[in-house]
Amino acid sequence: GSSWKLEDHPKLPKGKTIAVVVLDGWGEANPDQYNCIHVAQTPTMDSLKKGAPERWRLVRAHGTAVGLPTEDDMGNSEVGHNALGAGRIYAQGYKCILPTVQLDTRTLQAFLVGLINFDKNSLLKTSAKLVDLALASGKIYEGEGFKYIKECFDKGTLHLIGLLSDGGVHSRLDQLQLLLKGSSENGAKRIRVHILTDGRDVLDGSSVGFVETLEKDLANLRENGIDAQIASGGGRMYVTMDRYENDWGVVKRGWDAQVLGEAPHKFRNALEAVKTLRQEHKTNDQYLPPFVIVDENGKAVGPIVDGDAVVTFNFRADRMVMIAKSLEYENFDKFDRVRVPKIRYAGMLQYDGELKLPSHYLVSPPEIERTSGEYLVHNGIRTFACSETVKFGHVTFFWNGNRSGYFNPSMEEYVEIPSDSGITFNVQPKMKALEIAEKARDAILSRKFDQIRVNLPNGDMVGHTGDIEATVVACKAADEAVKIILDAIEQVGGIYVVTADHGNAEDMVKRNKSGKPELDKSGNIQILTSHTLQPVPIAIGGPGLAAGVRYRKDVPDGGLANVAATVMNLHGFVAPSDYETTLIEVVDN
Ligand code: 3PG
Ligand code: CO
Repeated sequence: GSSWKLEDHPKLPKGKTIAVVVLDGWGEANPDQYNCIHVAQTPTMDSLKKGAPERWRLVRAHGTAVGLPTEDDMGNSEVGHNALGAGRIYAQGYKCILPTVQLDTRTLQAFLVGLINFDKNSLLKTSAKLVDLALASGKIYEGEGFKYIKECFDKGTLHLIGLLSDGGVHSRLDQLQLLLKGSSENGAKRIRVHILTDGRDVLDGSSVGFVETLEKDLANLRENGIDAQIASGGGRMYVTMDRYENDWGVVKRGWDAQVLGEAPHKFRNALEAVKTLRQEHKTNDQYLPPFVIVDENGKAVGPIVDGDAVVTFNFRADRMVMIAKSLEYENFDKFDRVRVPKIRYAGMLQYDGELKLPSHYLVSPPEIERTSGEYLVHNGIRTFACSETVKFGHVTFFWNGNRSGYFNPSMEEYVEIPSDSGITFNVQPKMKALEIAEKARDAILSRKFDQIRVNLPNGDMVGHTGDIEATVVACKAADEAVKIILDAIEQVGGIYVVTADHGNAEDMVKRNKSGKPELDKSGNIQILTSHTLQPVPIAIGGPGLAAGVRYRKDVPDGGLANVAATVMNLHGFVAPSDYETTLIEVVDN
């Protein structure tokens, strides 16, 4: 049925104040010098761990447990917060899993569910998978979005803007390759690619190889009579891919290079650009300054002009919303666009369903409905959510199934603490952890809310910089923030749930199969800026937690999707039957 009413939990009371704390990028790994959580002083998290196995355990946060195609896929904040908030796994990827022999129970289950549901088309799929399916079937070229941009192919240029890597978090190189091929087969005669180099979801320095691969593909297209080239580029954290409106300057730098064809650096080809900027400017892939590719007369080869088509090929939403606004909105005051070309623009997906942004897209986004946040609001739970800008949408937008705004403004309050902008977070590794904790503490003590939900970004945001010393400071700051929140919960007799969305800070080095640091050609360790495959902790406790509550022993492979039902129980409700099972039981004593 479509009822929102949740059944009462047979044993657990209502009315407890619950803090749900998500430590971003906080996994569990063997202790060594590259495990910043181990190196840092984290007395609060250490003390929670002593509650194992009844009140502390690990949950899976990568691969199929969070709906990713394979067990080699590291976790990320989008799928992590989706799973935490929606309480279900976006079953997908069984096709990729099938040829690998190790079918554990969960994989087998996902596979069987996939088979059963496939024809009914009722499988919930993550955005990456929906793009894969649309490309593989060719349906992408029959859709409304592609037909819309195709109108420009006769006279205009097709511009493709996005993250160039195989990280699989925001985009994937193989999807870009298919899109290039498919677009040319479907009428695009002139193509310009505007690349954003990664080094954050993949190793720093890998951009060189990705550019080489792309250049080969473009050369093949040219042999087939398509005028295809890279037109501009820049590092993802400095050009275009800002999120949650932290720093419009980032998007402006992208606009200048991609649309206006203007940038401080000009090169004849992208490979030279990336290599030179890395060496001479000592910047890494994430922060390469913007550059444009110019012809022999010094003229930019691919500014965006009237009559062109533009596609942003990232599937993940958070870092595409701002560029989508700049490309789509007629009224726009975030920076001076100087020249606003009349283009046909489509996103790979629609990035924001509430804003209907962009209005044209190549693939329909996943529908994540009936999330725990929406259920709880219907059942009288007043919610407070808070983080700083760079993770604000994670505990709101992603948590609520990629939906912006409130379900019911009279029941919810979402507070964003402005992040520092224009810096890399190793410079300020404490970030706004203290401020977030204080806001949460005040919300708890006000007794105006039943659930207080926060994201503490430090482990992740500083971990992504690859700066080990700063990441240690970051972990300590996050731990101190947890302490403030737990103290407030203690005061009001509440309950806490402390967990994480995926690993990052607990492992900062690339390792070989036996777990030893893998050295590069010159014998150096390779810093791991990306997330990991590690499980994450979940701790429950607080004076309000009923004495008999403990982790069940029969959910050994529990993952982030099991957390929603657990939290619903602690609020005094039974989770909907299609939710992943709860992690807890109540024993009489
Ligand atoms: C980013 O966007 O910063 C990274 O690609 C992924 O990090 P997140 O999933 O933790 O946001
Ligand atoms: Co991250």
